[in-house]
Amino acid sequence: MEYRIRPVEPKDAPGLSAVRRMPGVFETILGNPGENPGKMETMIAGLGADDYFFVAVTPDGQGGELVIGSVSLKVFANPRTRHAAGIGIMVHKDYQNRGIGRALLQEAVNLADNWLMLIRLELTVFTDNERAIHLYESMGFQREGIRRKAAVRNGVYMDELAMARIRE
Ligand SMILES: CC(C)(COP(=O)(O)OP(=O)(O)OC[C@H]1O[C@@H](n2cnc3c(N)ncnc32)[C@H](O)[C@@H]1OP(=O)(O)O)[C@@H](O)C(=O)NCCC(=O)NCCS
Repeated sequence: MEYRIRPVEPKDAPGLSAVRRMPGVFETILGNPGENPGKMETMIAGLGADDYFFVAVTPDGQGGELVIGSVSLKVFANPRTRHAAGIGIMVHKDYQNRGIGRALLQEAVNLADNWLMLIRLELTVFTDNERAIHLYESMGFQREGIRRKAAVRNGVYMDELAMARIRE
């Protein structure tokens, strides 16, 4: 399928918000279906020098673009943790399992490895999110530990897996 990955732009806010709130996505990214649609406008406007945010977009058939995924990379600000960054990723429900998540993660890893010269990339994921864990492990992330009852999902306190990728 035709899509491209590019840095986020202010016009992407509604599309990003729609993906964040859709069933099949919000449950695993700590979003919720009632999330304020304006939150993504605020997020984009607030991106700073240490924040990197890419979107995957595909033609919407009307001359515009449909946001079908995103990846964020935030370099930690403390001078003693500036070799490390946190990553967040999501793909539109209808476009999952087609390689878009891998392409987004590769974009972030390439930036981290070859342009920012970071050593450590980290993230957390629900322990039963097998697709995401498979993707992360296939790209060099390793399991570091369990964060017990770290986040709520549909009325249950769920465990999260902490993962990190170390560039040797
Ligand atoms: C997790 C997510 C980002 C992955 O992106 P994606 O575009 O769907 O994934 P890709 O197609 O690039 O890769 C999926 C991989 O997992 C594999 N996979 C799919 N379902 C799987 C399962 N149930 N168990 C194990 N592996 C699975 C696929 O075969 C593929 O691996 P391969 O490339 O080695 O064949 C996406 O599905 C998503 O946004 N999910 C909802 C939000 C979310 O969970 N975000 C991550 C929060 S930490």
